[in-house]
Amino acid sequence: MPLVNAKEMIEKAREGHYAVGAFNINNLEWTKAILQTAEELKAPVMLGVSEGANKYMTGFEVVAAMVKAMVESMNITVPVALHLDHGSFEGAKRALKAGYTSVMFDGSHYPFEENVAKTKEIVSLAHFMGCTVEAEVGSIGGEEDGVTGRGEVADPQECKKIADLGIDFLAAGIGNIHGKYPANWQGLDFDALAAIKAECGNMPLVLHGGTGIPEEMIKKAISLGVCKINVNTECQLYFAEATRKYIEAGKDLEKKGFDPRKLLAPGTEAIKEIVKIKMEMFGCVGKAF
Ligand code: 13P
Repeated sequence: MPLVNAKEMIEKAREGHYAVGAFNINNLEWTKAILQTAEELKAPVMLGVSEGANKYMTGFEVVAAMVKAMVESMNITVPVALHLDHGSFEGAKRALKAGYTSVMFDGSHYPFEENVAKTKEIVSLAHFMGCTVEAEVGSIGGEEDGVTGRGEVADPQECKKIADLGIDFLAAGIGNIHGKYPANWQGLDFDALAAIKAECGNMPLVLHGGTGIPEEMIKKAISLGVCKINVNTECQLYFAEATRKYIEAGKDLEKKGFDPRKLLAPGTEAIKEIVKIKMEMFGCVGKAF
């Protein structure tokens, strides 16, 4: 199946009261692990790519070509959207040109009116190209690939104004952060989420910082309109832990254990394991159409 935009999968998630997982990719192994798991579980999936990861993989065109070719060569039948995560204004345009099917334009650090104007421009370009757009209001705390947010809770009126620009889904800061949550984290701000939902009606909402959010909070967030949940750090932690175990057990020193195909295998399997856990938690298993 060719790559799809995320409209239909997200709207189905909203109607069906579950969330689609958006998992960040960093390289071929990450992509393979996530695609295999989505196919095995018959789950629609979004592959998120930060601008930093795009740069690491040598460019938007390379990532788009790799993902398209892998979906084809692996005979993936579930819907897959290739999504730019926290894109800049220029980055979003470049991703669309390269063949991404969905982009997030993160204008949350601009003065609000500038965020509105720039989001509007990306929406018209993306929709002209048949792609979906995520916008952000408030900011996701913590740091991801050089994008740092102060963790402001989104203003529901501002959310409504951005939602009215014709975006396809909205990321709103509700006390969520990228990376590991600190021990003194207050949890998600469900009052803020309910207020945003009340203003934005049917607009699908996106929950960033999916790593380490307890299951009951995930379920509550979904019940309040969250239809897409982003996960990045947890895949990295699982990958690193499994790789560490392999090396600490001296496996890289046995026979051809240093071969990257062997060295990276436990980490790749570990990514599959956590993606499965998350997909089950988000309720998207068996929802591919
Ligand atoms: P985590 O790294 O906390 O899982 O957040 C991922 C994310 O929100 C990507 O935009």
